Amino acid sequence: MTGAPLRVGSKDSRAPIGLFDSGVGGLSVYIHLAEQLPAERYIYYADTLHVPYGNRDSKDIEALTLTAVEWLYQQGCKLIVIACNSASAHALQTARRCYPQLPIVGLVPALKPAVLASTSGHVAVLATKATLDGALLNQVISEVAAPKGTRVIKYFDPELVPWVEAGMPETSETAQRLRQQLQAFASADVDYLILGCTHYPFFKGFLFDEIEAQQLALQVVDSGQAIATRVKSLLAEQRLLATTESVSHTEHKGHPLVFYASENNDRLKNVVQRLVGPQTQVKYII
Ligand code: DGL
Repeated sequence: MTGAPLRVGSKDSRAPIGLFDSGVGGLSVYIHLAEQLPAERYIYYADTLHVPYGNRDSKDIEALTLTAVEWLYQQGCKLIVIACNSASAHALQTARRCYPQLPIVGLVPALKPAVLASTSGHVAVLATKATLDGALLNQVISEVAAPKGTRVIKYFDPELVPWVEAGMPETSETAQRLRQQLQAFASADVDYLILGCTHYPFFKGFLFDEIEAQQLALQVVDSGQAIATRVKSLLAEQRLLATTESVSHTEHKGHPLVFYASENNDRLKNVVQRLVGPQTQVKYII
């Protein structure tokens, strides 16, 4: 390793936080980050050229994720959030090994709080196939759910991520399948539904409307808020929190998000701006 650069990440508190997802899903994590840490700058990398990741094999997901992490590292990020459960499941450990001095936060479905809160002893995880098969989730199942005797139902629908990327039309067959699946979960006595993919919180409103209309006793949980809290404490520990003075006086709401995508796509800008606001800059890496 002589002469090899040490992947340290920026130690400047004004450096950006990097976020990565296969598509727009990681924006559901960004929303919590921007709320808890409004003085920070954020750079987002969406690998729209290769979305969805959920049906890819482990090596493929690992290689794509490492490319994204390297790109964010080259932008001088002080911390990176792999805002994708599928990518975290197959590449988080390798990424941390490749960049030992750079704080990297990954996602795992919020199974633990759901298991602790469940009274029926039946919970369901809605995630991609890659996440459901990955070691991170299965470790939580054996360490937290199994000892408590909680039954974990795993469910995936490969059309859910493309449905979110397409702006979630309610008349689609995907929406219809989701309605029926909610009923199936309730019939199986599930009381907690875990959204184990960062794309899914964007259809929480749809789920809540359906749960109310069908009068189901289902609670819905995701990881966004906990991840933002974790990032905040990591930055505080390392004295890397941006100060409010670094927010420009004309930008009272903080710095606008800079969103980079790996494929030039006409619809993307509209979808991104609808999800997180018109101030977002959408750029392409081509
Ligand atoms: N947002 C990603 C996740 O959390 C979606 C994966 C995909 O592209 O299939 O898993």
